[in-house]
Amino acid sequence: MQQRKVLAALLAGVATSAACVIPPGTLSGTISAPFRIQVQNASRPAVHNLYMNLFVAGGGDRHLFIGPVGVPTFDLTLVDGVINHVPAGVRAVIGGEFSDIDHTTKLFMTGRGDPRAIFQPTYACNPDTDALQIELAFVAYQDHPPPGGWICVRPAFENSHEFRYYPPGNTLVDVNRECIKVTLVALIQGATTLSTVTTASSTSSSPPSSTSSTTSSAPANTNTVLPFTDNTALGWRFIGCAPEERRVTPPDAPVRTLPSALLAGDDLTNAKCMAFCGAAGYTYAGPEWRRECWCANSYLPTRQPATTLASLANCNYKCAGNAAEYCGGDAWLSLYQKCPAGGPCVNAVFT
Ligand SMILES: *[C@@H]1O[C@H](CO)[C@@H](O)[C@H](O)[C@H]1NC(C)=O
Repeated sequence: MQQRKVLAALLAGVATSAACVIPPGTLSGTISAPFRIQVQNASRPAVHNLYMNLFVAGGGDRHLFIGPVGVPTFDLTLVDGVINHVPAGVRAVIGGEFSDIDHTTKLFMTGRGDPRAIFQPTYACNPDTDALQIELAFVAYQDHPPPGGWICVRPAFENSHEFRYYPPGNTLVDVNRECIKVTLVALIQGATTLSTVTTASSTSSSPPSSTSSTTSSAPANTNTVLPFTDNTALGWRFIGCAPEERRVTPPDAPVRTLPSALLAGDDLTNAKCMAFCGAAGYTYAGPEWRRECWCANSYLPTRQPATTLASLANCNYKCAGNAAEYCGGDAWLSLYQKCPAGGPCVNAVFT
C-alpha cells in the first residue's frame, strides 16, 4: 500500500504550494507510460530545458539530438533501465565515434545488440520550479565497468547538440567542443497513462543503484504566461483541453465528457467549480463555455486531451465570474483532476 501512495502522489503531480517532497522508496527501472526526455543543466542556458529528438540514420538507427535537428519524440519507454523507442524498434546504446580529445563516446539508438546505456529513474526536485520530477540517472555503460560517468551533449551541426557518454574518472575537456554534462528528465505524457509507473521496494530487478552525479532539472513552461489557469494551489491539476462529443472525430458516445453533475451561473470561477465538484465527491472538474462546471469520476479515453500547446487554444473562454481565468470553450472543457491530500500536485506538460 505504501507503494500505491507513492504512485498516487506521483500521478497527481504538483506541489500544493508546499515545497517539493521526495517520496520514499525506489522507482522501478521500467516506465511503460510514454515519456519525452528533457535535458537540464541550469548553468548552461544553451541546452537547459531542451528536448531529446530522434534523427533517422542508416540501418534504421536513430541518432539523438537536442535543438533543431531530429523529430520530437514523446513515446519513449524505459525497460529494465534501457531507453526504448518501440515504434522504431530501437534502444539507447553506447559506442562508436570515440573522441581522443575528451574520451567521450556516442550515445544513440539501434535495434542491434550494442552495449546498452543503463539508467535508474529517481525522484528529484526541479531546480527552476521545485516541482517533483523523475530523472533518469545514468548508472552504467553495459559490459564496460566501472559503473558511473554521465551523459553529456556537445555541439553538432545546425546549432544542435548530440548526446555522448563521458566515462567515470575522466577529466578531459574538448575546449573547442565542450561536452556539457546534463540531467535527463522523463516527462511522462498525459494523466491516465501514468498509472503504469510503479515503485519497487528494493532494487532486486533493477540495475544496480549508484551515486550517479547527475542531478537537477525542470519543465520549461513556467517562464511564460500559461495558456490555462493553474489551480494546483486549490489541489487540482490541469490535464488539458478536453473535447465534448461533437469535437471528437469520429463522434463517439453521445454523452457529456464529465456527465455526473453540473453547476452553471454567471458568477462561475475555477475556485467555485473545483469546490462544487470536490464537495460532491468527484475527482474530475471541467469549466466550460464561461459559465458551466461539469464533474465526474472518469471520462472516456476518446476525450483525453492533447498535450500540445496548440490544443489549449480551444479552451480560451474567460470565466463569467473572473475574466482573469479560463473556463473552457465552445464544446471544450478545461479538464482538472483532484490531487491526493498532502500529495504533490503537478499540471500536465504542454509542448
Ligand atoms: C553543467 O555542465 C558543466 C560542464 O559539463 C558541468 O561541470 C556541471 O556539473 C553541469 N551542471 C549540472 C547541474 O549538471
